[in-house]
Amino acid sequence: MIITAFAASNSSQSINRKLVSYAASLIQTTEVNLLDLHDYEMPLYSQDREQACGVPDQAHRFLQQIAESDALIISFAEHNGSYSAAYKNLFDWCSRVDQKVYQDKPMVLLSTSPGPRGGTTVLSAAVNAMPYFGGVVKGQFSLPSFHENFDVEKGRVKNESLDAQLKGEVAKLTDDM
Ligand SMILES: Cc1cc2nc3c(=O)[nH]c(=O)nc-3n(C[C@H](O)[C@H](O)[C@H](O)COP(=O)(O)O)c2cc1C
Repeated sequence: MIITAFAASNSSQSINRKLVSYAASLIQTTEVNLLDLHDYEMPLYSQDREQACGVPDQAHRFLQQIAESDALIISFAEHNGSYSAAYKNLFDWCSRVDQKVYQDKPMVLLSTSPGPRGGTTVLSAAVNAMPYFGGVVKGQFSLPSFHENFDVEKGRVKNESLDAQLKGEVAKLTDDM
């Protein structure tokens, strides 16, 4: 079983990357393919660019990574209540190849932020939108106040109740596999 995981962020210090790495490590007997959005950076999407040059190879490569996955875990950075521009640009380019970007794959969606809301606005936007883009959402979890609730040295959620919630949501990914 191959789990593809990534943070929808292009920060080298991404807290969502830390969270998604931990979440992926909770699934036993599986290969984890941790993607980095920097490897899929493209010019800002525009219809003019698409008409002039087509869809860049990076979008095709990203879609191929999804195709080769059995399941996905994505953790969304929240920028002004929405997706990071880095993720949205990748997503927009990919949607020009196939609107079902996520190709009917089961997924668990996460978010975290330094604040007490933990990126719940972007998470609920992502959960609501996924069915239109081929994402089969099995579970969701938002980690509030990242710096209080995540032990960066140990690479795990340190609040026990939140950790149990996360484990419950991640387990849903493999329930019927
Ligand atoms: C442009 C910008 C907008 C932001 N907007 C929000 C926001 O709406 N809600 C929030 O909780 N945090 C917001 N933040 C703080 C991010 O949650 C924080 O930078 C976090 O580290 C982003 O996740 P990442 O580290 O995985 O990239 C914003 C940060 C930036 C740079």
